[in-house]
Amino acid sequence: MTGPSTSDVTARADRVPEGWVTVCPLDRIPVEGGVTALVDGAAVAVFRTHDDTVHALSNYDPFGKASVLSRGIVGTRTVDGEEVAFVASPLLKQAFDLRTGTCLDDPEVRVPTYDVQVQRGSERMVLVGPRRRQQT
Ligand code: FES
Repeated sequence: MTGPSTSDVTARADRVPEGWVTVCPLDRIPVEGGVTALVDGAAVAVFRTHDDTVHALSNYDPFGKASVLSRGIVGTRTVDGEEVAFVASPLLKQAFDLRTGTCLDDPEVRVPTYDVQVQRGSERMVLVGPRRRQQT
């Protein structure tokens, strides 16, 4: 079987697409925890769930009015029969859906989300991309 040569893999892992920022290797983010990255001058919280899915949200907690979400508690909650991964603010404990940024306790409130990817290769580098447009 032929696959890509080692140098091809390295080249791919080193490539950072335009508009994306390198955060850190996946293993530097605690499971069910988060880290903060600076993206375009904004503090972004990057989370890793129990199944190694990564999500990126603004770090700013609109209820607690502080940049703290990366220190929140990651978990899952069943919403309408569906498992939803969330982060609960370390301040007032509101929970935000990690996929959409929507507050599970108050759907009127939403935290901005960012595109995020884990690169192939042994380091599994985490990259954060542009801020997503708000889905309606
Ligand atoms: S068991 Fe904790 S996020 Fe799934």
